[in-house]
Amino acid sequence: MARPHIEPFVDSTVAFKKFRMPGFPRGMQYKMLSMDTDTGASSMTIQLDPGYKQPPGLSYTDHEILIMSGSIRLGGEVRGPGTYLYVPAGVSLPALESPRGCKALYMYNWAEPSFEESDEDHSLGQRDRLHIFNSYEDIYWGTGNKYPAVAPGCLVKILHMDAMSGAYTFLYCMTPKFHQDNISYHDCTEEAYHIFGTSWMMQFGDLPTGGYFYRPPYINHGAFASERGILALGRTGGELFNYFHFNPWTNPTENHERAAAVLDRRKPHLYEWVRSHDGHNHPTDFEHPHHHHDD
Ligand SMILES: [Fe+2]
Repeated sequence: MARPHIEPFVDSTVAFKKFRMPGFPRGMQYKMLSMDTDTGASSMTIQLDPGYKQPPGLSYTDHEILIMSGSIRLGGEVRGPGTYLYVPAGVSLPALESPRGCKALYMYNWAEPSFEESDEDHSLGQRDRLHIFNSYEDIYWGTGNKYPAVAPGCLVKILHMDAMSGAYTFLYCMTPKFHQDNISYHDCTEEAYHIFGTSWMMQFGDLPTGGYFYRPPYINHGAFASERGILALGRTGGELFNYFHFNPWTNPTENHERAAAVLDRRKPHLYEWVRSHDGHNHPTDFEHPHHHHDD
């Protein structure tokens, strides 16, 4: 099944376990944050022990890595905190070592973690989608230019965006004394990990450093506040639209219905089309004829 609602979870409350998936070198430890038990897609806090060495190799799923503390040596180049990798399935990474150890987030997007030693890409690997940069140093903070927008004082850096679905990975920070007094929900899943700092949410209380959530669509969240500010990594499962309101008692079904009503007002023709094709729609996309919706 799809990943369940996990909120709140704080990874400092559990111990690292040895990571022993076939193919991976020894010297990795993990804390599971969330997992799709059908596909094995998962998000984990990972510790690479001092002296960890991984030969050049590839994975059979797109995966993302954010180095949070310590450093890695990738193809001989030392890379520290803030290093972000988006690695498409089948694209070979150079040798990766961590002489002094590091802590990172690892996110395997479609399938269980996999590693196969190879210094060549798979024939279907899309190397042009590989990104490696320092997310702390190489890009600027911007205001979230999605409207309806979050309150001022929440800044965003987009690290990766899926051109087909609009799903994206981003860093966000709440500046000290940030507060937003409304309630939000979205049409897509939302996932976040607190790299440092504590924020408060009306439904789930304080989320400290190491705090994590995986939130299915249409679940109320907010109001929000942060006394001293936070830095976090976030991911969405699709294009994010902020539905805002002030009723803390609505449930996901009511929120889903209200989202349909908002669609009716904003895109009445699309709404009519969806409604008239309910249950037997077979959308075609002439620009991407081979695209299939993955349930
Ligand atoms: Fe949200």
